[in-house]
Amino acid sequence: MTVSTVAINRQMRDFDHRDSFWLFGYGSLLFKAGFCYLEHRPATISGWSRRFWQGSHDHRGTAHAPGRVVTLVEDPGAQCTGMAYRITPDVLEPLDVREKNGYLRFTAELSFHDGGADRGLVYIATADNPAFLGPAPMSEMACQIASAAGPSGPNRDYLLGMARALRELRVHDPHVLALEEALLVRERGPRRSGSG
Ligand code: SIN
Repeated sequence: MTVSTVAINRQMRDFDHRDSFWLFGYGSLLFKAGFCYLEHRPATISGWSRRFWQGSHDHRGTAHAPGRVVTLVEDPGAQCTGMAYRITPDVLEPLDVREKNGYLRFTAELSFHDGGADRGLVYIATADNPAFLGPAPMSEMACQIASAAGPSGPNRDYLLGMARALRELRVHDPHVLALEEALLVRERGPRRSGSG
């Protein structure tokens, strides 16, 4: 189901008056920024975990065959690493459109890997949005990701791009790695016995 959070997000004015502020990217914003930024720094937020539990009807799937993309779910004690971008307010309008399928603007405390901390904006699709899919067995999620594609490309490329970006950041995210493995096993197909 497609939704639009654009109007709701535009009412959130916490950052609009600043010359620049931090945006935390943990999904597509991590490996495919697609916007101008002043600087970027790896950062971590606490109490959230990255999960492939959000449906994508507009980027990595369609209304009839949605893909699966990440959102953050509350997880006390957990840490989620991503990329913080220092952006100017004009970037928010296109970002709201890009994240319109269920993502709302939240604020979070970002801890930068090179030291220091600051509040930043993060887009999160909560469980009450109509495009939320929730958990499923890894093999089922891999199957859905293997077959889905949308205007932004194949869903598999989203998963593999994210896994690559996390490796480059030296982040071990068991959920993403397990899903990547399930996808690759599926794509390799059954191995013949004796083929080594
Ligand atoms: C993000 O990357 O921070 C939000 C979710 C997405 O666009 O994949």
